[in-house]
Amino acid sequence: MKGLILAGGRATRLRPLTHVTNKHLLPVYKKPMIFYSLEAMARAGVEEVLITTNPEHAGDFINLLRSGADFGLKLSYEIQDDSVGGIAQAIGLAESFAGADKLLVLLGDNIFTHDLSRAVKAFEKRKKGAMIFGKEVEHPEHYGVIELNGDRVVSIVEKPKRPKGNLAQTGVYFYDDRVFDFVKRQKPSGRGELEVTDLNSFYVKEGTMIVEVMDGYWIDAGTSADELLAAGNRVAELKEHFS
Ligand code: G1P
Repeated sequence: MKGLILAGGRATRLRPLTHVTNKHLLPVYKKPMIFYSLEAMARAGVEEVLITTNPEHAGDFINLLRSGADFGLKLSYEIQDDSVGGIAQAIGLAESFAGADKLLVLLGDNIFTHDLSRAVKAFEKRKKGAMIFGKEVEHPEHYGVIELNGDRVVSIVEKPKRPKGNLAQTGVYFYDDRVFDFVKRQKPSGRGELEVTDLNSFYVKEGTMIVEVMDGYWIDAGTSADELLAAGNRVAELKEHFS
């Protein structure tokens, strides 16, 4: 299994903090935000990790993270020229890096305590398909919303006005090596992006998408200044979980 951390985007919701730097380099308690994804990868046992980011900030990531040895990881870097291309477009950049391996994708602004190592081992054994992680939230309309029938994923809808339930799709995804073919078949959404929700829907339609509900703490720290502050405060309280 290989790992991919997405650290691109323009983060307009966090301006002026992000005028001259990348969201994933902003502090969350006492570390840059991206450290939490790197540590989650290391905890999960995924050692070869690709980071995608925008050209303006790629040098800062390399200065900060270097080879990845400090995290016990081997890092590679890929540039996303089109900063508004969307999550699925960034996933597409990992094609030659992933080769025939399965892929664990983390959105670099998601911070969580859930240990993924068991899921990595289980997913390695699966023939084909994908896996997402859900978390019950108060405001599902801000996220991709997972509709379940028993254990089965019926649909995932991106930021619906009237959500069917309160299970949010987090930024943690497992894919088989067909994911790149699916990305190539995608069309831009209304906001002009290749959406991760549309990508995941290929697997939902095929009946090969499984979901696990995350335990512990999860936050998408990149949605607003308030969430960024909340993430920092909560990480400070939970510091024994964040090595
Ligand atoms: C993205 C996804 C959304 C998901 C969220 C999790 O939203 O599009 O489905 O629930 O990440 O962090 P964004 O934060 O890019 O608006």
